[in-house]
Amino acid sequence: MAKVVEARKLAKRYKGAVEALREVSFEVDENEFFIIMGPSGCGKSTLLRIIAGILDYDSGELYIKGENMKNVPPHRRDVSMMLENFALFPHMTVYENIAFGLRMLGKDKDEIDREVRKMTRLLHIEGLEDRMPNEISGGQRQRVALARALIIRPSVLLLDEPLSHVDYQLQRKFAEMLKEVHREIGGVFMLTTHDQEHGLSLADRMLIMNSGLVEQIGTPTQIYNDPQTLFAARFVGELNTFAGTVEEVSPDAVWVKTEFGTFKARHPAAENARDLVGRRVAYIVRPEHVRVAREDSGQDNRLSVYFNTYYYFGHFLELVFSADAQTRVKSVISANEPFTAKVGEQLTLTWPYTKATIVSKPSVVEGVDIEELIYGK
Ligand SMILES: Nc1ncnc2c1ncn2[C@@H]1O[C@H](COP(=O)(O)OP(=O)(O)OP(=O)(O)O)[C@@H](O)[C@H]1O
Ligand SMILES: [Mg+2]
Repeated sequence: MAKVVEARKLAKRYKGAVEALREVSFEVDENEFFIIMGPSGCGKSTLLRIIAGILDYDSGELYIKGENMKNVPPHRRDVSMMLENFALFPHMTVYENIAFGLRMLGKDKDEIDREVRKMTRLLHIEGLEDRMPNEISGGQRQRVALARALIIRPSVLLLDEPLSHVDYQLQRKFAEMLKEVHREIGGVFMLTTHDQEHGLSLADRMLIMNSGLVEQIGTPTQIYNDPQTLFAARFVGELNTFAGTVEEVSPDAVWVKTEFGTFKARHPAAENARDLVGRRVAYIVRPEHVRVAREDSGQDNRLSVYFNTYYYFGHFLELVFSADAQTRVKSVISANEPFTAKVGEQLTLTWPYTKATIVSKPSVVEGVDIEELIYGK
């Protein structure tokens, strides 16, 4: 498949020596919804600005549809960007804001009118055309900003944190609309977020960034189920983690000795079996796979804990247990599942080895060790 965006070892250092991008390489295919996720300051906006051409990079290469973008100005790139705060022109009506891109391209009045109508219909903002940006709601401004970026039908639409400036209900609505719009009109959508839920639910593929480096690139399920680093695993969801040492390896499983006993996990696809024995690793199992054991359960992994507390989220319950004074273990169950326990009650938790895995690398960033990332020492 044709690559629409290709970044090779992009690096960027701002004046004052902040290394915003240290080495970022990735490829985006035609019609992909590609999400860039990472903590604040990891370089997400820097990367999007470089793709848009409003910021230059120091080294590496950037190609859009096979063309090297070095020295290609923003308006000559087949790219459109929706900025973080929507940035509508305050002195123009909604209609003029949306039409702006096509005006700049010198399109005639009838075509502009047709396209603006299409956009307002697609984004459900009909009837607002004559208002000024300060006369519409935050959610409507967001959709006008999207219409303005989309109207030129760019090959690449860049969205920098489009979900972070509105309340939760609107975020969800806008996210759903983005997915529908993407399905409807296609093209590459590249969106930054630090919200794992939006990232996982929208992405065809995602890139997890940390300190200007790539932690992992993959589909949401690849990263969720087969993380390559502990950082990537943590970034896409809740995790139970135990530090341990690999004792034994079989073709499909590994046994990890931890301070709570020896736990079995499935063999991580990416790792070479021979290299694992004796290695310090993080053993990980997500809370939705951990259950309170019944007497007769024949599961591979058992852990004795005390019940601590629970959180009710409407459709699910998060149960919190203590394995020792510092170590919390979480279990997520459906709110329909029966669960009763007294605080301090001793219980046994269990989970199948096929749902647990290990990571031997804390992060792609040098100098982070496993214990530090697990225990926050
Ligand atoms: N114009 C600038 N001059 C100097 N340093 C900058 C500039 N813009 C960003 N930085 C720094 O570069 C790093 C990356 O910034 P960037 O805005 O790309 O992060 P981000 O991932 O988008 O963060 P956030 O999630 O908070 O938006 C940060 O350390 C930031 O302080
Ligand atoms: Mg940013």
